[in-house]
Amino acid sequence: MSSKQSRSSRAALRPRRTLAFRLSATYALVGLLLVFLATASLYIVLRTELDRSTELFLADKLHVLGTMLRERPDDEDALHEEIELESAARRYQRFYIRLLDEHGQPIMTTPGMAEQLDIAELSSRTRGHAGHPIAMAGRHEQPFRVTTAMLAVGTPPTHSDAVQIAIDISQEEELLARYRLWFWGILLTTSALFPLVGYGIARRGIRPVEEIAATARRITSTNLRERIESEGYPSELASLAGTFNEMLERLEESFERISRFSADIAHDLRTPVNNIRGEVEVALARSRTADEYRDVLESSLEEAVRLSELVGDLLFLARAESPFSELHREGVNIGELLTKVRDYYEALASDAGISLLVSDGAQQLNVELDRSLMLRAVSNLVSNAIAHTQHGGTVTLAATDEGATIRIEVFDTGIGIPVEALPRVFDRFFRVDPSRSKTSGGSGLGLAIVQSILTLHGGSVEIISQLNHGTCVKLRMPALATQ
Ligand SMILES: Nc1ncnc2c1ncn2[C@@H]1O[C@H](COP(=O)(O)OP(=O)(O)OP(=O)(O)O)[C@@H](O)[C@H]1O
Ligand SMILES: [Mg+2]
Repeated sequence: MSSKQSRSSRAALRPRRTLAFRLSATYALVGLLLVFLATASLYIVLRTELDRSTELFLADKLHVLGTMLRERPDDEDALHEEIELESAARRYQRFYIRLLDEHGQPIMTTPGMAEQLDIAELSSRTRGHAGHPIAMAGRHEQPFRVTTAMLAVGTPPTHSDAVQIAIDISQEEELLARYRLWFWGILLTTSALFPLVGYGIARRGIRPVEEIAATARRITSTNLRERIESEGYPSELASLAGTFNEMLERLEESFERISRFSADIAHDLRTPVNNIRGEVEVALARSRTADEYRDVLESSLEEAVRLSELVGDLLFLARAESPFSELHREGVNIGELLTKVRDYYEALASDAGISLLVSDGAQQLNVELDRSLMLRAVSNLVSNAIAHTQHGGTVTLAATDEGATIRIEVFDTGIGIPVEALPRVFDRFFRVDPSRSKTSGGSGLGLAIVQSILTLHGGSVEIISQLNHGTCVKLRMPALATQ
């Protein structure tokens, strides 16, 4: 087995995922990703903002102390207020400050600092990081941000004091921890909710598709009346349902036409077969004279000829509709072609007391076409015209050059065709008056054959008729001039 085959057989074995599953999985994944991105970016923004406000607080404190030491180095009360009292007054966001002289001896310390922080560690950790806050854990594992700076004392400065500041950021950390809890909670809830909601939406969305599929499944050749009710469908699916219904409409029409056609074929084949059978049965009922047998054989032959003509016509129509049918085009002089048809029908026409004429002008027309097919088409028209024209009437054959097309006309002064029957005369087996045509042997295929022949030539047929005045059939085809 080639790799391509094995791949395709593996694909066939793999269970097909439903559209609802794919849609809801995509929806859930995209939804979760968006929630994750939104909450995670909010967390990062919050964390950055909290860090920034801590740093601002530390910078602010350094600035205040720096100003005090520079401008009022002897104002002990103000220092006391700033270092020892302010922190004590705070419940949240406690901070601790230690002020050291130029020899490293503590001058002032926020009360309780040593209980909260390892002072030695604070000094060693902040050394070399003046002005840059760093993280440090307190004695009870509380999170701190600590910083140190050298501040000039007096104006002009006499010496520099060192200051160490530590701020307790447990509140901020707790806030972030609570946020993280919410974050995972939201992710967990949405990861359970999104697939459910997505599945619900997807199922609702594809319900019309399932209904269309169910209707399609119910359709058989005997049940083509089914239609899809597209009421309430979204516009895309309503148009799909509409197209589907139109297709059913066309199928139903074609099926009806085909079954009518089959019934007509059966009926028209049965009549000559029954006639032959009846005559032969009667002839065989008792012994006959040679002349009587001859009569029966002659009439049976007539019926057999009719039968074989009918089968021939049907075969011709079936072949003409095949996409593989082809024309044997050759240069044909239209005048010659019309004269040939006239010569063939002349005897029949004169027996019926009808003048059969070919008008001038056709002799100059030379066209590339299938001679035998066009002979058949014109013959069918002339045979119709003679059959429907009374004694003393005229049937004329004419041809005109219309530039891009050539027009061949057969017109008669006959009985004409009623207006209501005109649109149907090209239908197979259609006869205006079936009982009348029967006597003249017509099966109603002549004009259908003419139309097929013209379609094969890329042309068209038009029929104009006036009751009791006459009929004119016009054949138009592209004027492919002969070389
Ligand atoms: N020139 C015409 N004048 C009056 N009626 C016509 C004329 N040509 C055709 N028709 C009517 O149209 C019907 C269909 O014609 P069509 O040639 O298809 O069938 P048909 O002549 O009855 O049978 P077929 O040609 O197969 O032997 C005819 O039965 C006839 O009623
Ligand atoms: Mg005919």
